[in-house]
Amino acid sequence: MAQKQIAIFASGSGSNAENLINYFRQSKMADVGLILSNKISAYVLMRAKNLSIPSIVVSNSNLKNQPESILDVLAQFNIDYIVLAGFLRKIPKELIKAYPNKIINIHPALLPKFGGKGMYGANVHKAVKQANQTQSGISIHLVNQAYDEGQIIFQAKTNLTTTDTAKTIEKKVRALEIKHFPIQVENYIKQHNNLT
Ligand code: GRF
Repeated sequence: MAQKQIAIFASGSGSNAENLINYFRQSKMADVGLILSNKISAYVLMRAKNLSIPSIVVSNSNLKNQPESILDVLAQFNIDYIVLAGFLRKIPKELIKAYPNKIINIHPALLPKFGGKGMYGANVHKAVKQANQTQSGISIHLVNQAYDEGQIIFQAKTNLTTTDTAKTIEKKVRALEIKHFPIQVENYIKQHNNLT
């Protein structure tokens, strides 16, 4: 089977993107062929440059109003799967239609709790702290048109104590992201293509 091509969409620092790129460099299954960001100042673009991965910036208005132009770019790069790694905009329905069950997101909490609009980055961990949760974790899920509501394909948990702060919760959750995200994306692509 030809290697599947992954595009990573990211709006921020891109530590997950970098981890995915490095992981898939060793994988026969798939490779990261493109980084897309909606933010020209996002550090993920610097990481892409340093790792020699092509990148594009798409404005929020293009994302919303000209999804066809994004589909064209994805086609040019032969993209099979889209992985969202800290991408803070809604995915247009045209992309969801063109990539059915082929868009994967990571959410830094145990969905269905602490998901939905406004629940991103530090907000999530602050909400978890405020709700006195004894556990948090990561949810890797398929993307449909509602925020954070697509089918969950993997979750991992971490225990919290009363001394945890939003910052330490974030640290624990990030460790889970780095450990599990690339492997779970690879497993999903394998299963999705009926490979063993
Ligand atoms: C991660 O916590 C991810 O789960 C979330 O946004 C953060 C992105 O961090 N949705 P980075 O850009 O990968 O460093």
